[in-house]
Amino acid sequence: MTKTVTDFQKMKDQGEKIVMVTAYDYAMGKAVAQSAVDLILIGDSVGMAVLGYETTLDVDVEQMIHHSMATRRGAPDTFIVCDMPFMSYHNPEVAKENAADLIVLGKANAVKLEGGTPSRIAAIEAIVDCEIPVCGHIGLTPQSVHRFGGYKVQGKSSDAHTELIRQALAIQEAGAFMLVLEGIPELLGKEISEQLRIPTIGIGAGRYTDGQVLVLQDMLGFTAKPAKFVKVYAELEKLSIEALDAYASEVKDGSFPAEKNTYYPIK
Ligand code: KIV
Repeated sequence: MTKTVTDFQKMKDQGEKIVMVTAYDYAMGKAVAQSAVDLILIGDSVGMAVLGYETTLDVDVEQMIHHSMATRRGAPDTFIVCDMPFMSYHNPEVAKENAADLIVLGKANAVKLEGGTPSRIAAIEAIVDCEIPVCGHIGLTPQSVHRFGGYKVQGKSSDAHTELIRQALAIQEAGAFMLVLEGIPELLGKEISEQLRIPTIGIGAGRYTDGQVLVLQDMLGFTAKPAKFVKVYAELEKLSIEALDAYASEVKDGSFPAEKNTYYPIK
């Protein structure tokens, strides 16, 4: 049965960790749906992990809908959060239209957007007012890569620490049901998680958030130089190359296809 926003709140209240992972297509949606993972994020990381872009900034709403729909077909009963891509939520009216498209066309259950400044708070309020659940995302927000001057840990100075706590509380106040904390010191991840009523999901935010999220391609070994916060649970790129080499070698030496792979083989 599909978990709901109420279930995620109960998990936080009862101290049960929440497990989120990204997925972008039917096959991986199906795999995640059969696992113990609680919810799926259709991350705009699809731009880098799947489409080969340099950053997430090239992804648009249509692409997010495409990947969300595909994942939904593989995971019909899993709660799906779909990322709002760069510049798709920077004024409340546009944000409402795009969020509605991700829900209605993309078949997601909720949307996620980056940042906690006043214009983002206005966007969260506008989307929640349309009865669409919103997940916030602060810290090392990848859509801010150029302003940050790279993928750098955020919230290190005392001022930045205080500002991120302020943003987290404002996001909760605006009606978000969940908050992703990315690339921040562990102490800040812990303090925000303790101060918020809603669940926090960490990625590079230490051990004390209410749940964790990883990018699927990172944890399955498809990323050349994964970040410090990544744990690689399977080396699937390596396994794929080995399988492809075995296939190529068998085609070349004539051992594939064998008789058992052949229709009406010649006797
Ligand atoms: O796009 C994404 O995968 C994300 C995660 C890094 C949280 O936003």
